[in-house]
Order: sequence, then structure tokens, then C-alpha cells
Amino acid sequence: MTAPRGVAARLRELRDAIDRHNHRYYVLDDPEVPDSEYDRLFQELQAIETEHPELVTADSPTQRVGGAPLAAFDEVSHSVPMLSLENALSADALAEFDRRVRERLGRDGQIRYAAEPKLDGLAISLRYERGSLVQAATRGDGSRGENVTQNVRTIASVPLRLLGEGWPRVLEVRGEVFMPRKGFDRLNAGQRAAGDKTFANPRNAAAGSLRQLDPAVTAKRPLAMFCYGLGLVDGHAMRDSHAANMALLKDWGLPVSPELQVVDGLAGCAAYFADIGGRRAELAYDIDGVVFKVDSVADQATLGAVARAPRWAVAQKFPAQEELTVVEGVEFQVGRTGAVTPVARLKPVFVGGVTVSNATLHNMDEVQRKDVRVGDTVFVRRAGDVIPEVVRVLPQHRPKHARVVRLPAHCPVCGSEVSRPEGEAVARCSGGLFCPAQRKEAVKHFASRRALDIEGLGDKLVEQLIDQSLIADPADLFALDVDRLAALERMGQKSAQNLVDALDKSRSTTLARFLYALGILGIGETIATHVAAACGTLEAVMTLKLANLVEIKPSQAQRLQAILAETAEPATAIDTLAAFDGAKWFTHTHALLLAERFATVGDVVAAAPGDVANTPDIKIDGVGDVLAEKLVTFFRQPHNRDVIAKLLESGVHWPDVPVAAVAQQPLAGKTFVLTGTLSASRDVFKERLLALGAKVTGSVSKKTDYVVAGAEAGSKLTKAESLGVPVLDEDGLEALLSGAAGD
Ligand code: IVH
Repeated sequence: MTAPRGVAARLRELRDAIDRHNHRYYVLDDPEVPDSEYDRLFQELQAIETEHPELVTADSPTQRVGGAPLAAFDEVSHSVPMLSLENALSADALAEFDRRVRERLGRDGQIRYAAEPKLDGLAISLRYERGSLVQAATRGDGSRGENVTQNVRTIASVPLRLLGEGWPRVLEVRGEVFMPRKGFDRLNAGQRAAGDKTFANPRNAAAGSLRQLDPAVTAKRPLAMFCYGLGLVDGHAMRDSHAANMALLKDWGLPVSPELQVVDGLAGCAAYFADIGGRRAELAYDIDGVVFKVDSVADQATLGAVARAPRWAVAQKFPAQEELTVVEGVEFQVGRTGAVTPVARLKPVFVGGVTVSNATLHNMDEVQRKDVRVGDTVFVRRAGDVIPEVVRVLPQHRPKHARVVRLPAHCPVCGSEVSRPEGEAVARCSGGLFCPAQRKEAVKHFASRRALDIEGLGDKLVEQLIDQSLIADPADLFALDVDRLAALERMGQKSAQNLVDALDKSRSTTLARFLYALGILGIGETIATHVAAACGTLEAVMTLKLANLVEIKPSQAQRLQAILAETAEPATAIDTLAAFDGAKWFTHTHALLLAERFATVGDVVAAAPGDVANTPDIKIDGVGDVLAEKLVTFFRQPHNRDVIAKLLESGVHWPDVPVAAVAQQPLAGKTFVLTGTLSASRDVFKERLLALGAKVTGSVSKKTDYVVAGAEAGSKLTKAESLGVPVLDEDGLEALLSGAAGD
């Protein structure tokens, strides 16, 4: 059957449009149509091709992932050998390269170079005939490589057909296939989740992906490519400049590095190297140096090649980023928020331009995932400003008695318990203000402008005070006197007096500032304000229970009792539980809430469901279950209570007007009923009303102050109208809310 002529025309139109959209999306990163439009065109093309299989061509966009898995790759011989590059290992070596180039060309003046990043992937050759991709091959030994056409066709940024016109009859382009870092991280996360082996670096991942016998696997790998040169060209005079040739390739829809630049002489090369070296960590992909190429193609021909490398190009590599060394120990550092971080002590090694003797292991999940043990030989990486990290272990070098790393049960600095909440990667010291490692930061935070605002108490001074044991916690600040302060480095009588005055002034504060100053994890300035407004007094904050804040619905309570009765030992302590199949909502926070009332699983199972359920009676804007647990746990710690007591004794105070505080809330005493469909869930509006002191109830009565009616409001609206209760629409509510909030 032959297709009607109109079909062939439409087919061409569709393929042109799809190729163009692919190019804009994958090469230019600048799509001109939404995905839905692209999908529509693609589906139309697929439909036509299904109906007219005789019209399917290999370069149709539908044929990217086509072939069946191969048994092995065919061999391809390169008509123009794929060369390698000479390395310049130092600035001197680069100067020597430039001197030789000038000498051979007989030039006095500066040479013009094309400078491009040295991509860390693998070399590829693409052969286009009459604009269609016909072959892709790896470099192999330079004269023979492997035919990986099926796989390269799946790389979205590689055009199956060239755009524009004027391309040579045969055009062979050379370039690098690589894997952008984000894609690499995603791939490894997927491999890990599936229990498959992970890749050590993006280069290995790119190589492994390209050398898959099943192209369907390659198609799923996030590969990319940049062209950096030409091979065989037949039938078209290209330009006499490397950069201009790359611009031509770009016009034809081929991906070319946006970092390519033409620079003049050695100075230009040095500036480029420094610039891109500084931006290395910001690039979306790994590069391991810069390639400088004599830009004039005529000069390239004059210079020629030796053995396996051209005389007109050189690679200047960045100092090695990864080196091998030995883990001599693992210590745990305590950070500002009490985070306990494992740090590897390494046999010093020169990597990325500096000597590294410590490397972060991030957290215990990472230690376990990489299986790092003391005594292991490991790869250490340092990229840009990034903190050095242990990349992976070489298990074959593991000594017999390599020691497994364990999270300490107690803080190495203060001895407080170290805890690691279920589902969190970070372990923390529970010492809070008591832990010396956290003290300096805690005191700095306490004194900061938005907290107690102690003028003149800078970071350096705080460190001196703690190092000299003049203070141990924020409360001790108030016991400092002029004489003791004046004796400190860079402190005179006058500045000491100023500081004492500032301390005196800071004693008078607000409850919100005080709560913020305590530095409770997750309690920033705004939340501190909400907590203060909801509780009114410090006493009320300190006696908060999870039962005041966290909900367990009656239906959840029942389900939980059933699951516990079936699956848990009655004697199990309730606060050790979290998350069950069938009750995934049940977190450690819920377990702690139940522990306020019950000791064991048996107690919970035996209770009336109504006693297991919990309705919170205090709503604090912005405080969900997680923050509720942080708040309650903080105030349960005896250390924290001691410091608070000391602060109050040293005269820190604030206007304590709890009842007025609530009454002052703009909507205090007003009752609202929400009904009908609003632009967001009713809970959203409810929370905003509660935050301003309003009450929100479910049924309309004479006592209701306002009914807020959204679309399709029913009986509640009718009742409001019959009772004469004011009715607001959503705009009216917004106006009232913003008026009440004072904005
Ligand atoms: S040009 C005749 N340019 O480095 C010149 N190579 O060490 C041949 N590479 O096999 C290479 N980025 O895989 C050139 N911008 C770039 C490059 C680059 C990475 C790789 C390429 C080559 C190897 C040589």
C-alpha cells in the first residue's frame, strides 16, 4: 500500500517540528512549546508511522530506542585516527608548549587559541551522511573502536538529523559523552534503592551506560554530549578556525560547550584556566582541566601530530581531585545545633592542591553505606571549596582488624545522650546549652540582634570568654563585671563598661525574644512569636505536653490498638515505638505523646479507645508534630531548665501579661464558621483565623460572629441568613484578615 501524498508531507512536517523542539529542549535548554504540545506532535507521528510502517526511517524521532539487545559490539575502524592529548602538568609546561608552537610556526606574536573545558567522560565519533546519523563509535585504541550507534541514538541531545543546511556529504564529528552530576546522583540513588551496584563517579557511569548491550538500558541513563572536533569531512570546505567550525556544528543542531572561548597567547590561556577552575564546582558536569587548541586550522596542519597526539593541542589538568589514603581514625564532631558528625582522620595526602588530613563522613548512614572502617584504604575527593570527603573504600586493601565505626551513645564533648530520631540521618547531642561545643554558638546566638541583642558582644569575645572559662552558658554573662572584662584581650575599661551596660539593658526583653534566644532547634523568630502568643507565659511554654499539641484521631487510636495487640509484646515500652504497616502515620512523636499517659504497649491496648485518641487543645501557628516534639523535649532537659532558672535569677524579664496577651489578639473572642468551597482548604483559613485569636466552630448559632461562605455553600449559609449572622465571601475574609493582622 502506498500512502497518500498528503501523509508523507505531514510526516515530514512532524519530524521537522519534533527535531526542532528536541534541539531547543535538549541542546539550547530553551523550549518554545509546552511538553503537552510536544507529546501531541509525537503521538501524531507515531500514529501515522503505525499505519504506514513503510514510511518509517531510521532517523525518525520515534526511532531513538529501536534495536534489540546486541550480543557484542561490532568493530569500527576510524578513517581519521582518534588522537589523544599531551598533558601540561604545570604553568611552566604550558609555557613550554606555547613556546614550541610559536617556534614551529615561526611566529613572534601571540598565538590565538581555542580554549574549552576538558570533559570527564569518554570520546565518541559520530558520522553523519547527508545530514543523518549513520554511525557512532567509541575511541577504542584510536584506530579501532566499538560500534555504539544504537546507544548513542538514545542520547537526547545528539541529533538524528542535522538542522539547517549546507552540511558536508559526510561529516564526522568528535566529542565527549558524559553524565551531568545531577543525573549521576539520581542514577546512583536509583541503583542503591534497587540494590544494584552504584558507580564510583560520573565518568564510570557514562562509560558503563554507553557500553550497554541493551539500548533500552542506555536510554534510561542521563547521558549528554559536547562536540569538540572534526574527523572525516567530505564535500564541504569547513572554516579555517576551530572556533568557527564549532559554531557551524552548533548551527546544525549539534551540542557544543557554551564555555568555548578564543583567547590570545599564554596570558589568555592562564586567565581562562583560572576562571573556569574557579567555576568548576558550579558547572553541571565534571571537568578535569582545560584543552587549548591552536585555533587556525591551517596552523594545525603545519604543526601536525606526533605518535598519538597532535602538536597543536594540549590539556592542562587541574590538580588531582581524588587520591588514595588511609583512614587512621574516626572522630565525632559536635556542631552548632548539636549535630554529631563522623570525621575521618586521614594519613595526610595532597589532593586538589592542598594537604588533606580530615574528611567528613557526613553521617552514620553514609558511613554504613560506604562501609568505611578504621584502617581502610579510601579515595578522598576535594572539589573546589567543597569540604574533602571520603568517596569510597577499596575493600581489597582492608586489613584484618579494621575497626567498624559506631555512633557513640554519649556526646564526646559533654557526655549527654546522643540520639538519632527515627528516619533522620543526623544524630544529635541532647546536651543543648550544657554542651561546651555548642556553648560558643549558643552564646553567640543568645546575644545576637534578634535575640537578646547584647550590643558589643562579638564572636571573638564570646570565644575568649568560653575558652577562659569566664562563662559556661548564656546566664553567666550577667555575672560578668567591668574588672574581669577589662582584663580581656583587646578590651579597655571603657568598652568593658559599655558591655556591662548593654548586658543590663538586654535583661529587659520579650517572651518571644527570650524563647528565640534559647536556640531551640527549629524555633526561629517567627515561630517563637507564635509560641509566645499562644502560651502567654514562660511557665505555660515549659509545661507544654505533646497532648496539648499533637492529634491522634479516634479512628487512628482504634487501628493502632488493633495493630499493637497483634504485633507488639505487651511489656514493650511505648516510647520506643514508631511506624507500623497499616499505621504509617504513627511516628516517634505519637509514641512520646502516648508515653505521657501510658508506660507499655499492654497499657495502651487495654485502654478505652477514647483515652488513646487525643485532641490537641492548643494551636500554635507553624508548630506541627515535629516542632512540637522539639519544643517539649527541650524543656524537659534538666540542663536547659537549669540555665533558664539562672537567667531568670539574673534578672532577665519581660512584661508578663498572659490574659491580656490573648485578649489583645485582634480576633480574640470572635467565632467563625467556614462553609462551601474556598480557594484553598478550609484548614488553611482556619489556621490563619486561629493565629489571630479567633475561634472556628462547625455549626452556626446566634453566637456566631461571621459565616464565611465559599462556592456552593448550603444549609449553614441559609441558617446564617435566617439568624442575621454576617456572611463574608472569601474576599471579605481576606480583607478582614489583613485588617486584623495589621497589614
Ligand atoms: S580534543 C586531537 N577536546 O580527552 C584532539 N579532547 O586526553 C583530541 N577530551 O580522548 C581531543 N574534553 O576524550 C579534546 N574539549 C576536549 C576534550 C577532550 C575531553 C578527552 C577526549 C580525549 C582525551 C585526551
